[in-house]
Amino acid sequence: MTDTLPLLFQPYSLRGITAKNRIVVAPMCQYASVDGAPTDWHMVHMGRLAMGGAGISFVEETAVEARGRKTYQCAGLWSSNQIPAYRRVTDMIRSFGSVPAIQSGHSGRKGSCHGAMQGWKPLGEGNTTPDQPPWIALAPSPLPDTPAHPLPHAMDRDDIATVLAAFAENARLSLDAGFELLEIHGAHGYLIHQFLSPLSNHRADGYGGDLNGRMRFALEVAETVRKAWPADRALWWRASCVDGKGGVWDLDDTVVLARELKARGVDLIDCSSGGISGDTDMPIVPRTPGYQAGFAEAVRREADIATVAVGEIIEPRQAEAILTEGKADLVAIARELMLDANWPARAARELGIEAWWTCCRQPMPTAWNNANASARSMLNVIKPPRPTMTAM
Ligand SMILES: Cc1cc2nc3c(=O)[nH]c(=O)nc-3n(C[C@H](O)[C@H](O)[C@H](O)COP(=O)(O)O)c2cc1C
Repeated sequence: MTDTLPLLFQPYSLRGITAKNRIVVAPMCQYASVDGAPTDWHMVHMGRLAMGGAGISFVEETAVEARGRKTYQCAGLWSSNQIPAYRRVTDMIRSFGSVPAIQSGHSGRKGSCHGAMQGWKPLGEGNTTPDQPPWIALAPSPLPDTPAHPLPHAMDRDDIATVLAAFAENARLSLDAGFELLEIHGAHGYLIHQFLSPLSNHRADGYGGDLNGRMRFALEVAETVRKAWPADRALWWRASCVDGKGGVWDLDDTVVLARELKARGVDLIDCSSGGISGDTDMPIVPRTPGYQAGFAEAVRREADIATVAVGEIIEPRQAEAILTEGKADLVAIARELMLDANWPARAARELGIEAWWTCCRQPMPTAWNNANASARSMLNVIKPPRPTMTAM
């Protein structure tokens, strides 16, 4: 029955999880967390996206340790104290029929700064509050993200072991927090990408130099997380397939990396690009519709691994074509879903599904009951006692 549906609306299974369709809410940083934990902002933000009908809903990049955030407002999951706040979000996403997914990462040398509204200025004298002091960011080499950033600390073997342990702990906590899918953020100029790219990795030890050396940290992260994350749950990897247009880290390198990741139990490559800054004026890949789908296609074909296409996927027919032409297994959407969280419903209607509203509502009684147990218990507390009838 389901194979008569457009491919975009056919269920997708990976290991023990099945998404009801192939539309993915791409991770989107919100800068609205408190001590790393999600707030009411996230309940509404993720709620409208999950309710809109996407099969998989990613929360934003979530730091595996406090210093792996960019800003004090970034998401993070490094302590069991944070779990109840995440549970609220994952229970809600699941109750709306979407798979709750987490993107785990580490900012590396992009850490210790203000958010987008303050132009990513580094935290420093005169622009911080006493309870939010700057911290020393980590990096493979002592090279700042931009000339305005302070020098990061070049990681030694102990630092590498500490960060690997943080990735493992984050994976265990993510499971306890109710996430069903974990993606490692290996892209956008953050710590893992900093190790991969020769622009930011000038190390002379076994974690630098040739491609194998630069890939070593990334592969150790993959191995570490795969061990900590259950075998019946899928593990994805977001890659910057190229540093930028004419970049040093290129698509051939990504194909080699994808093969190695696959050998270590990574199930899918989410194909993005760019983000390395520092001593480069390399242009970004031009933003045209589907501008990264070609990367997803090449990685899928050359590394024989499932891929997600992301980047200016706007029209339902465009999304369907990416899938039917074999360029990717799923499509992820960020900005278009910010504009229209009901995009999946619109897509279902435009692709000819008569009962298009059913694509956006999949009753999940158990999940719904769990998510609403706390609401019901509150009602019991608030509800005034029934007046007893007394004979007049
Ligand atoms: C507000 C915003 C926040 C983002 N945060 C993240 C993030 O946390 N992790 C990530 O890998 N990409 C992040 N991205 C990139 C998106 O996931 C996506 O790859 C990119 O926006 C291209 O897709 P689009 O053209 O559908 O917006 C963010 C994008 C936006 C617009």
